[in-house]
Amino acid sequence: MLRIAIIIGSTRPGRKGETVAKWAHEIAQKRSDAEYELVDIKDFNLPLLDEPMPPMMGQYAHDHTKRWSDKIASFDGYVFVTPEYNHATSGALKNAIDFLYAEWVNKAAGFIGYGGASGARAVENLRLIMGELQVATVRAQVGLSMFTDFENFSVFKPAPNQEKHVHAMLDQVVAWSGALRPLRNKGGE
Ligand SMILES: Cc1cc2nc3c(=O)[nH]c(=O)nc-3n(C[C@H](O)[C@H](O)[C@H](O)COP(=O)(O)O)c2cc1C
Repeated sequence: MLRIAIIIGSTRPGRKGETVAKWAHEIAQKRSDAEYELVDIKDFNLPLLDEPMPPMMGQYAHDHTKRWSDKIASFDGYVFVTPEYNHATSGALKNAIDFLYAEWVNKAAGFIGYGGASGARAVENLRLIMGELQVATVRAQVGLSMFTDFENFSVFKPAPNQEKHVHAMLDQVVAWSGALRPLRNKGGE
């Protein structure tokens, strides 16, 4: 069974990312095409990147990196739930991504962005980053607007059609995660 992580990309107290990711996870659990797991980067207590060797070498000195590596390596694909901070993804998510390399390679990813402009610029930013990590990003994405998917810019009340967008994105993530399997098997991790 394919394993897909739904990654919470923000860590600040009062973050909206956790509610958004839990909503997406509930939708995903109605499906039988993959095993979906919520992954909270906050649980890994990653400092700002503190590994002496570049991640591409795969020589991790710290336990927090090894724990994060084991978790990320265990998936076939990812859904990044990203806020938009200054027209980019969050520093916390970028830092967590930067810690690893081979664990991401030849996997697939989809995105759920949220913010004033539905997180669109944060998702574009992540697509560039994923390109360097050899992650195949799917076209279908979910954009949640502070204006129409949150009541008074605070309480998450997704528009009814958003669930359909989650399924469309997951359809592609599952298809591509499966299709890339031969490449993952060829090179090891
Ligand atoms: C540091 C910071 C920068 C932000 N920059 C943007 C931005 O450039 N565009 C936007 O639409 N919203 C921006 N916002 C609003 C966030 O998208 C919104 O507060 C969202 O809830 C943040 O996600 P979080 O609650 O999971 O941390 C910014 C918020 C913060 C905290």
